[in-house]
Amino acid sequence: MLCLGIETSCDETALALVRDKRLVGQKLASQERMHALFGGVVPELASREHLRVIGPLFDALLAETTTRAEEIEGIAVARGPGLLGSLLVGLGLAKGLAISLDRPLVGINHLVAHLLAPGLEQELDFPALGLVASGGHTQIGLLTSPFAVSWLGRTLDDAVGEAYDKTARMLNLPYPGGKTIDALAQFADPDTGLLPRPYVDNQNLDFSFSGLKTAVARIVADNPRLVAPVMEAEPDIPELAASRPGLAELCASLNWSIASTIRLKLRRAMARHPEVKALIAAGGVVANSCLRRELAATAEECGVRAVLPRMELCTDNAAMIAYAGSVYLEAGYAHGMDLDAVPRGKPLPDDFIRVS
Ligand code: KG4
Ligand code: ZN
Repeated sequence: MLCLGIETSCDETALALVRDKRLVGQKLASQERMHALFGGVVPELASREHLRVIGPLFDALLAETTTRAEEIEGIAVARGPGLLGSLLVGLGLAKGLAISLDRPLVGINHLVAHLLAPGLEQELDFPALGLVASGGHTQIGLLTSPFAVSWLGRTLDDAVGEAYDKTARMLNLPYPGGKTIDALAQFADPDTGLLPRPYVDNQNLDFSFSGLKTAVARIVADNPRLVAPVMEAEPDIPELAASRPGLAELCASLNWSIASTIRLKLRRAMARHPEVKALIAAGGVVANSCLRRELAATAEECGVRAVLPRMELCTDNAAMIAYAGSVYLEAGYAHGMDLDAVPRGKPLPDDFIRVS
């Protein structure tokens, strides 16, 4: 099946074509530089930008892959969770194409798509434990199959990427902050007593990162010399690390605090689900050097396979939507024209139409 995937849940407009579970081509327009001016995603600007670029991006995808629209056999769209106005742009294109081409439509859970994405390159083992760690989400899910996902834990406040981005803002480092903080962290060892491992003294699998932000704010208030003098789009990392004593150590300690908190919760989840065969991780924060090490160590310790996809498949993309879409459509899952977008924080309904 040749399946089109449409992804507009946050600040990336992305389209991809997948044929027989393999990627044919993809186009992605990132709004990162626009939102960087504001230190975070501005929802109204995001949806307007999606609308501006999505049509030309579709034409470019067809041209680059020498595909005619009529050859598309199925249409998959991220239907949530995400920014409502942004999701609606993707749904508009998906429904328009489904009607005009008379092809089946399926709405895909953006988080499930993240966890299925490595299926584009390797066989997936089920049951699997999945971690989505991004700027908008921090969730642990148990995937019994591609169609049966139960969410075991989630963040109660900030997403893990937000903890990085907000820390970066306090330190006058550019958005998105995780990359710069991770780069600075390479210049020091963590002080494991500096920051708490937040929200681990309980029995659950949820996260809470807002306390960590407060702890960082206190350290920054007591040590104003940690803050970069001006926010540069691409700061000189070695120069910053050398000129701000303690900054690299704070960044390394934040990495340690976050990665070891996630490791603790994943081990707890593994202990409760010994049937799990693989640990899949996705989301922009999985680029983090310390987290990647801890994830590999967790998998090894629990005797399961670590599935850490390459970065283009970890961050928001449409290949994962097209892939998940083809898996769902081929198994007879679809949606009608009443398919709705679901904003962040709301559960996604199980409202598939079964056509077999
Ligand atoms: O999945 P993603 O690309 O998109 C959204 O969630 O929108 O994730 C972006 C997040 C940002 O919060 C960014 O700070 C974080 O991923 N990030 C990192 C690293 N690279 C990106 N966090 C920690 N370490 C990194 N190396
Ligand atoms: Zn995402």
